[in-house]
Amino acid sequence: MKNPSKFWDKIAEKYAKQPIADEVTYQKKLQVTREYFRPDLEMLELGCGTGSTAIQHAPDVKSIRAVDMSSKMIEIAQREAEKRKITNVSFEQSTIEELSVPDRSFDMVLALSLLHLLEDKEAAIAKIHTMLKPSGVFITSTACLGDTMKFFKIIGPIGKFFGLIPLVNVFTEQELVDSIKGVGFLIDYQWQPDKGKSVFIVAKKAG
Ligand SMILES: C[S@@+](CC[C@H](N)C(=O)[O-])C[C@H]1O[C@@H](n2cnc3c(N)ncnc32)[C@H](O)[C@@H]1O
Repeated sequence: MKNPSKFWDKIAEKYAKQPIADEVTYQKKLQVTREYFRPDLEMLELGCGTGSTAIQHAPDVKSIRAVDMSSKMIEIAQREAEKRKITNVSFEQSTIEELSVPDRSFDMVLALSLLHLLEDKEAAIAKIHTMLKPSGVFITSTACLGDTMKFFKIIGPIGKFFGLIPLVNVFTEQELVDSIKGVGFLIDYQWQPDKGKSVFIVAKKAG
C-alpha cells in the first residue's frame, strides 16, 4: 500500500466502535500520564486516531494539539470533541514527518501505538525531543514485536503488500529504549503490563 493513510481511513469507523482491548491497562496509562500534568500544560498528540485519549485528558490540561495522518480518524475525533463540547483540543490531519512546529513548544508529547508504525522511528523520536521544552515529557506506548514475534519481519511485508495491514516495524524493547536514550532523553518510567503487550515509557528531556 503506497499511501498508508488509506489503510487507516478505511478502518476508521470500525476502529472508533471497537471497545478498548484492555481497559485496566489503558486506565493505568492514563493515570500515569496525569501524574505529569500541570494546569498550564501544552500537549501534542501524534497519531491521535479517533481522539479518545486527547478527549480524556482535555479537562486537565491547558491545550492539546492532536494530529493524525488519516483524515477519517480526524473527522471522527472532531465529531466526538464537538459532541462533548471540548474546546481546548485542536485536531488536524498531518503525518509526524510533515508536521512543522517551533522548537521547544510543548510540555508533553504523546505517541500511543504509533512508533512501530513509522518507517523511521529514530527520526520521529529526535523530532519529538526538539519539539519539547526543557524538562518536557515524552510518553509512548509501543508494540515491540522483536521480543516475541520476530517472524513478523517476514510476514509483515506480505500483509502490507496486499493492503491487509499497515507497515509494522519490528524491534525489541531494548532497541526502543536505546533509540529514546540515544537522542538525550532520560527514562522516568517503563512498564510492560505482560509479555507481548505494548511497552509504556515516560521519558524526560533534560531541564
Ligand atoms: C494504532 S492507531 C493508534 C491511534 C491512537 N493513538 C490510539 O492509541 O488509539 C495508529 C494511528 O496512527 C496514525 N499514523 C500512522 N502513521 C502515522 C504517521 N506517520 N503520522 C501520523 N499519524 C500516523 C494512523 O492513522 C492511526 O490513526
